[in-house]
Amino acid sequence: MSTIKLHDLHFKPFIKEEEINSIVQTLVQQVQEDCKGETPLFIGILNGSFMFVSDFVKSYKGDCEVSFVKLASYEGTSTTDKVKQLLGINENIEGRTVVILEDIIDTGNTLQEIYNIFKDKKVKQLKVVTLFFKPDVFKKELPIDYIGKSIPDKFIVGYGLDYNGLGRNKPAIYQLSTTQHKK
Ligand code: IMP
Ligand code: MG
Repeated sequence: MSTIKLHDLHFKPFIKEEEINSIVQTLVQQVQEDCKGETPLFIGILNGSFMFVSDFVKSYKGDCEVSFVKLASYEGTSTTDKVKQLLGINENIEGRTVVILEDIIDTGNTLQEIYNIFKDKKVKQLKVVTLFFKPDVFKKELPIDYIGKSIPDKFIVGYGLDYNGLGRNKPAIYQLSTTQHKK
C-alpha cells in the first residue's frame, strides 16, 4: 500500500484489507449471536456503507433482509449540521428487528436523523452497528450497539468512504496526510 492522491489531497495507508475483514467478521459474530431466532432487516446508510453491507451480509449466517436509506451530511472533508434524507424506507417495518449498518459515526448528526426516522415506525428493536467511530467528535447521547473500531479524528477514505466522490472503490482505508508531498 502506498500514499494516494484524491483531488487536491494526499492520503496515507491506515487500515489494511485484512484488518477490515477481521473487524467485519467480529461484528457479524456479535450481531448473529444477538439476533438468534430473528429475521433481521439490515439497513445500510448510503452511500458510504455499501461495501461494508455487502461484506457483512455475505458472512451473515441465517435469514435476513437487506435494504438501504440514503442520507448525506458531508461536504468535502467536514460535516454539516443538516442531514438530508435522499432515499427513504419503503418496507413495512412494524414489529421488525432493524439493524442499521453505518460505515462511520463522526459527530452523530446522521445517527440522530436515523433515530428520528425510526422513532414512529413501531419496530420491535433498533440496533446500530458502525464499522468506524470517532469518539473525540461524537457529541450525542445516543446508543451505538456495536462499534467495529474507534479511530482518531482524522478524515479517512476507502472501503466505501469518499472525499468529494473519490476513493470509495479502494479496498483498504487511507487517512488524510498532514505532511506536504511533492506534486
Ligand atoms: P456524522 O453525521 O458527522 O456522524 O457523519 C456521518 C457520515 O459522514 C458518515 O456516514 C460518512 O458518510 C461521513 N463521514 C464521517 N467521517 C468521515 C470520514 O472520515 N471520511 C469520509 N466520510 C466520513
Ligand atoms: Mg455514511
